[in-house]
Order: sequence, then C-alpha cells, then structure tokens
Amino acid sequence: MTKIVVTGAAGQVGTELVPALREVYGETEVLATDVRVPGTGTLLDGPFEALDCLDAAAVAEVVRRHAADTIYHLAALLSASAEQKPQLAYEVNMGTLVNVLEVARDAHCAVFTPSSIGAFGPGTPSDPAPQDTVQRPSTMYGVTKVAGELLCDYYHSRFGVDTRGLRFPGLISHVAPPGGGTTDYAVEIYYDALESGRYTCFLSADTQLDMMYMPDAVRAAIEVMEADPSRLRHRNAFNVTAMQLTPATLADAIRAEVPGFEIAYDVDPVRQRIAESWPRRIDDSAARDEWGWSHRYDLASMTKDMLTHLKAKLGADAGHRKLGADAGHGRN
Ligand code: SER
Repeated sequence: MTKIVVTGAAGQVGTELVPALREVYGETEVLATDVRVPGTGTLLDGPFEALDCLDAAAVAEVVRRHAADTIYHLAALLSASAEQKPQLAYEVNMGTLVNVLEVARDAHCAVFTPSSIGAFGPGTPSDPAPQDTVQRPSTMYGVTKVAGELLCDYYHSRFGVDTRGLRFPGLISHVAPPGGGTTDYAVEIYYDALESGRYTCFLSADTQLDMMYMPDAVRAAIEVMEADPSRLRHRNAFNVTAMQLTPATLADAIRAEVPGFEIAYDVDPVRQRIAESWPRRIDDSAARDEWGWSHRYDLASMTKDMLTHLKAKLGADAGHRKLGADAGHGRN
C-alpha cells in the first residue's frame, strides 16, 4: 500500500499532482500539505494539513502519523523569486529538503524531488544539454537544485533512501499559476490572449527553452517513482522535456487559435539573463531508455487544450485571476 505525503501541495505542480496521486492510490492515502491552507479547491477533497517543512519535528510528526512510505517534496522557491531573495531561497530550498531526507531516512520513505533545467548554467552544452554534463548554474535557484540533486544521490548511496527526481522544463498549466519563475510567460500568455488579445512578454522573442504541459509532468513524476529500480542508472535527476519554445513560436501557435492575437516585448533583464544561462534544449534519452518516459502533448495539442480549459475557467471566473509572485509556492 502506497501512503503519500505531498509538501508544497498548493503550488503549480501539487495542485494537479495531488488529484492524480489520489486517483491512482486512493483519496485517503494522499495527505496534501502546504505552509498555507487554500480556501477552496480540489486539494481539500482529501486529507490536507498545514505544514512548514522548515520545522523538522513537524515534518517527522506528519509523516509518522500518516504512516507514509513516500514523500513528494514540492515546497520550493522558483528561479526569479530566488534571485530576488537568494538567502530565503537557500534556506527554503535546501533546509526543507534536508529535513525531508532525514525523515525519509528514519521512516524508510521514498522521496521524489523536482530539479529543473535551472540546474544547468552557461558552461553547459546548450543544444542539447546531455543527462550527465557540466552543472555550474549562475543563479541561486540553480545552486539549490544542483546541491539538491547531489544530496538526494548521497542519501541514496549512503543511507539507501529511494530518492528519485526529474529536471523539469518550464511547466504550462491552466489550473494553478506558477509564480516567481522565468518560464511563467508561457502560462501568462494564454490568459492574456483570451482576456485582451495581446500579451507583453518579459523574455525576448527568440529565447528558446524546454517546456512541458502539466498532465505530462504529473505523469512523469508518478512514472519515475513507479519505475523498476533495477533499470535506473540515474536517480537525481532525469532530464525530461516535451517541446522547445520561444515566445515567438508560442505566439504563432496561439494566433492559429485566437486570430489577431498580438505579442509585444518588454524584456526584464533579470529573467532574460536567467533564461540565457539555461540550455536551449535538454536531451532526455536517459529517461526514455531507463523508465520509458514519453511525452504526449506537443505545442499544437497543448494549445488547443489550454485554450479550451481557460475559456471555460475565465468565463466562470472572470476577474478572479491572479498570476504573480505571491501565488502558488508557499513562501515567494
Ligand atoms: N519553471 C522554473 C522557473 O522558471 C524552471 O524550473 O523557475
């Protein structure tokens, strides 16, 4: 029986991962936790508790009381927030992870931790970035992601904790906003296309980054945790991707569905610099070989699905949208 605790569950990934985990393992088996308790939403359809993962004793108490054997540790600050508050990012991204790993060691839990394309840096081969390569990021977010990958590998080799992770690309979703990320433009653009027919992008037109639709990302997280360990040569963390986008190519795909859509550019130097320090494409063949990773959504099918869902959501929820740095990640 798999019993799961999810941290940072009210963020962009957790909001969709928790319902997917409950579908697979049963509603009562998945305890969602976050530093903030959401007022509404599907997370509250099953067990939910407030949990500050910087409080090691509280993490241990929650994991033991739920008799968990698996922890999906999602609580973290994203790249742009981390550049604004690097000390806080270090404290949250590293402090919570070490607390979770210690509890996992003691309580014999498997641990999923997301890494990111942000774990690469300017010295990484850019097109593609191999699975095993130079990792010298120039952001605090990247520093915490590389250190996190190493820490997870260490807990596996030294203490036998079943740690596994993915280097996620930018994640695109119609359910919960990201918040504080460099790839957030790829979500904002869909909302603005429907609400005003135009979007002003904070990255330049030809800035190419890997992206993935959230249903694929959620499935990847579950599949890597279900993978046969005897096939895994890597653990922390697998490159996974679905598509490579620039703001211009994404705008073209949206224009095919929303005629007359216009994009303008007002480049934010901080986020542009972060984006330029990341690869243009990552090579995810290790994930494909070792546990059968395969994406389902490409740009066209994702765009159709995003717009269908957002039309329904914005129709029902006009004026209540909130994209921004205070949304989704607990501590931004
Ligand atoms: N989407 C993340 C960010 O922009 C990258 O992992 O920070």
